[in-house]
Amino acid sequence: MAGVFITFEGIEGSGKSTQIALLRDHLVRLGRTVVLTREPGGTPIGDQIRKVLLDPANKAMDPSAELLLYAASRSQHLHEVIIPALKKGAMVLCDRFSDATLAYQGYGRGLSIAMIRDLDRIVTAGLRPRLTVLLDIDAKTGVGRARGRNSSQNLHAEARFENEAIEFHSRVRDGYLALARAEPARFRLVAAGGTPEAIHGELKKVVDELLAKDR
Ligand code: TMP
Repeated sequence: MAGVFITFEGIEGSGKSTQIALLRDHLVRLGRTVVLTREPGGTPIGDQIRKVLLDPANKAMDPSAELLLYAASRSQHLHEVIIPALKKGAMVLCDRFSDATLAYQGYGRGLSIAMIRDLDRIVTAGLRPRLTVLLDIDAKTGVGRARGRNSSQNLHAEARFENEAIEFHSRVRDGYLALARAEPARFRLVAAGGTPEAIHGELKKVVDELLAKDR
């Protein structure tokens, strides 16, 4: 596939959306075709699944049901958006992907990592991001930011994960760090505590270097 697939990961409040938007603008200025998308969601069917997954009223959701809904959203997203865009040579910037399932459902909820990897192979047929940016921030700071944003932007309908205890988010963060350590060639760890401009400067360098290698 001719395109470039880049994913962004991190706990709540790590600043992913801001950074993805800044990077998209940078790449468009360079003349690239960019598709910006996210999980869960990214398609009309995925957006319906997203509502179910993030609705705080769904307290009774079983962890395996949760896992399978993320997998369903990903399957739809891959076939409807990601694979066609990569085939056309686009740069696909995706806000969360398979690593989020390992971090949240595996490290966070405690489901078997091996089982999640097996399911992921079925869903993605082995398609992996070329680069995964992990925006790292401690759980208390990140979740504090996310909760503030939810109340100021009236995003209560999406707060099921933000409502989890800090310990849950700490496990997710540790999970992400373990995944990054295990695959240093794919992951770039970026400290998310700095200013948005400084973080963007760092990300631009990482992505420009990646594109230079392809020339
Ligand atoms: P976000 O769009 O605000 O990042 O919200 C998505 C939420 O879903 C976030 O709390 C992380 C969670 N999530 C999982 O638990 N597993 C997954 O596979 C993905 C993609 C997201």
